[in-house]
Amino acid sequence: MVTIDDVVRHALERGFFFPTAEIYGGLAGAYEYGPMGVRLLEGIVNERRKRFVFTVDFPVYEIHGSPLLPRAVFEASGHLEKFNDPMVQCKSCKSVYRADKLIEEKLGIDAEGLSLEEIGKIIKENDIRCPRCGGELSEPRRFNLMFKTYVGPVIDESSEAYLRPETAQNIFIAFRRVVNVFGGSLPFAIAQRGEAYRNEISPRRFLIRLRVFRQMEVELFTAPEQVREFSPLERFYDRKLRVLRKEGKEEEARVRDLRGKIPDTILYYAALESELFEAIGIDPNKIRFREIPEHARPHYSSFNLDAEVELSFGRVEVAGNAYRTDYDLKRHAEHAGISMEANYGNKRIVPHVTEPSIGIERLIYAILEHNLEDDGRGRKVLRLKPSVAPYDVAVFPLVKKLRPKALEIRRMLSESGLRVRYRDKGKIGKMYAWADMIGIPLAVTVDYDTLKDGTVTIRDRDTREQERVHIRDLADRIREILKNNRS
Ligand code: GAP
Repeated sequence: MVTIDDVVRHALERGFFFPTAEIYGGLAGAYEYGPMGVRLLEGIVNERRKRFVFTVDFPVYEIHGSPLLPRAVFEASGHLEKFNDPMVQCKSCKSVYRADKLIEEKLGIDAEGLSLEEIGKIIKENDIRCPRCGGELSEPRRFNLMFKTYVGPVIDESSEAYLRPETAQNIFIAFRRVVNVFGGSLPFAIAQRGEAYRNEISPRRFLIRLRVFRQMEVELFTAPEQVREFSPLERFYDRKLRVLRKEGKEEEARVRDLRGKIPDTILYYAALESELFEAIGIDPNKIRFREIPEHARPHYSSFNLDAEVELSFGRVEVAGNAYRTDYDLKRHAEHAGISMEANYGNKRIVPHVTEPSIGIERLIYAILEHNLEDDGRGRKVLRLKPSVAPYDVAVFPLVKKLRPKALEIRRMLSESGLRVRYRDKGKIGKMYAWADMIGIPLAVTVDYDTLKDGTVTIRDRDTREQERVHIRDLADRIREILKNNRS
């Protein structure tokens, strides 16, 4: 089985990620995307855009907002008051831990959302001690996760600003302008992707709990009744989802049979997510949606159905789907003293919000873990779907002498719009192995026959089958194979 250590090693050695500020000892909770990671990120973003923005039956407006926002935004959103996690500190070695996660690891129980008193009691009763030195732990206290700074040279409350802990707030504060410019009849949505920042108490597990990460979020604005009766859901009625209800019952059910138990708009995004996750190579048997009990829901949510993926060390939330009601728009309307309404029929109303919030790095981790395999000969193969692979095709000359022809073919393929990687280091077997490790689905080999009859070999990463193709048909044939692999 592939472990987290295998994934980390592979991602670092093959240029998917680098530790941030590596030459200075790193920055805990941050990673740089390397050249292969950038391509993988791009693939995920494109696949998500296709489904959540381009092929949707209602208007979806995209924005790209500032990650730095003034204090007033987070006073209104409730993040200043409520966006905090419980922490404990070791009295001996001073290590700090996120208390609910520590309980989860030690006792295997879900402690998210418990009060400080409850957490303190569990720690005492079970004699949970510092995992590093065995020392006694402090009483738990709350720690606000936002990074604070000041804008300009004057340091006081008026210049206080924060790095956004979720991309969503840009959307709520852009809402009024979007309505004014584009009309804003319900339903419509605003989508965004970008960095979010959280000063996590203990970042860990590589890409799973970071301090700098990326989210792809949509805020869907509807009338309250459309949350329960949302006609765009119809096209997903027959799709099956595995759902763990909050009473503890797990079932695989068709969307049509989940209606009435879960709001329509939430089901709509859960169905889109399950489609997206499969399209980017997450194992469909390892995807589950979990209804979050009230005590563990974020402060703005009145219903949450989170997407979880099974990994080698347990299940991890990769997306939060929240019914945020009119919480955010009403709070911003009150704090900013403006109206936050949209058109619904011949009325003006404050819309209700449904939000799918997908974390990109957690998806990337899951893709890497679910697609990294041993080829049976001690080599790793990364079986990435073409949509998220760093390149469409590699081009290799069989021997260095064939370089000019191979470079000519590379240029021809690139000019046809394919993403091509050329390499001429080492024997052909080694070059195939290299392409397999970074997940390139196809490799073209230029050999002596190419000079004679204009044909090359296409080799498939997963089947290792080879076929001979004439150069004039090469780009089309590659496209055809990639398209078949996609579907
Ligand atoms: N706007 C709602 C929101 O931010 P969330 O459940 O806190 O909801 C959404 O975050 C997603 O963002 C998570 O499901 C996860 O994929 C990702 N995420 C959250 N915190 C993260 C962290 N510290 N490191 C990496 N990804 C994180």
